Amino acid sequence: MITVTKNDAPCGARIEGVDLSTPLEKDDVAAIRKAWMDHHVLVFPNQKLENDDLVRFAEYLGPIGDDPFLKPIDGHERIAAIHRLADETGRIFADNWHSDWSFMTVPPSGTMLYGVIIPPEGGDTFFSNQHLAWEAMPAEMKARFEKLTAIHSAGGAYSREGAYSEKNFKGAMRFNISDEANKTEPHPVIRAHPENGRMGIFGGSYLVDLDGMDHERAKELLKELVIWQDRDEFVYRHKWEPNMLVIWDNRSVLHRASGGYEGQERRLHRLTIADNPAYY
Ligand SMILES: [Fe+2]
Repeated sequence: MITVTKNDAPCGARIEGVDLSTPLEKDDVAAIRKAWMDHHVLVFPNQKLENDDLVRFAEYLGPIGDDPFLKPIDGHERIAAIHRLADETGRIFADNWHSDWSFMTVPPSGTMLYGVIIPPEGGDTFFSNQHLAWEAMPAEMKARFEKLTAIHSAGGAYSREGAYSEKNFKGAMRFNISDEANKTEPHPVIRAHPENGRMGIFGGSYLVDLDGMDHERAKELLKELVIWQDRDEFVYRHKWEPNMLVIWDNRSVLHRASGGYEGQERRLHRLTIADNPAYY
């Protein structure tokens, strides 16, 4: 029997009573999907999973998405690794608020991460509930943001000049660095979630500009927005355990990584779930 226990936090729930290393019944998949839409971040502790199990579970939630700038792990083309070796001292990967691959024409609905090597402390992942962030926004601020279109781009991260290019990032992560990353894609800043219908803010660190606005003014507004999105009242701080699987809804939450595990290796396996192109 699947149990869903809501976190004492602005988003997230713990899912128990299901073994993801075996095929699931239709009803179980439906219960998990409902919990995912209701709580935005699902945590499945104590799951002993192989890579094939991750793929099978992801495919219950939608087709597996493309990972344009992450190289797959050896032997499994649909899975990438979030990996940091014990002797790395540089920047933590993905340590600023973002929605995964939001610069795509059809960004992924969800992302799955599975803890393979988890240090005893540090490496928490933060999630910010963007429905709450919108609902709690003061009316005068809402009026400034609600009609805007954001310009998203991965250039600052994955182009040859980006933060994860060879010259700017040293570490175990494997990237596909390409100037394709400089392409831009517009998305509304405020929009209804395509499945649960709730309004929310869609944006994070891939937002580089606002359509039809002076760039300096756009930068000011984007800064104001991210300060708002970062407020504690919207944020769930997730602590990892080995053999823990987490899935989240990129249309509802932003997320960011954190450090605090210097001298320890950390490895998670990652897949994205493609969204329905009809929503875009
Ligand atoms: Fe991410």
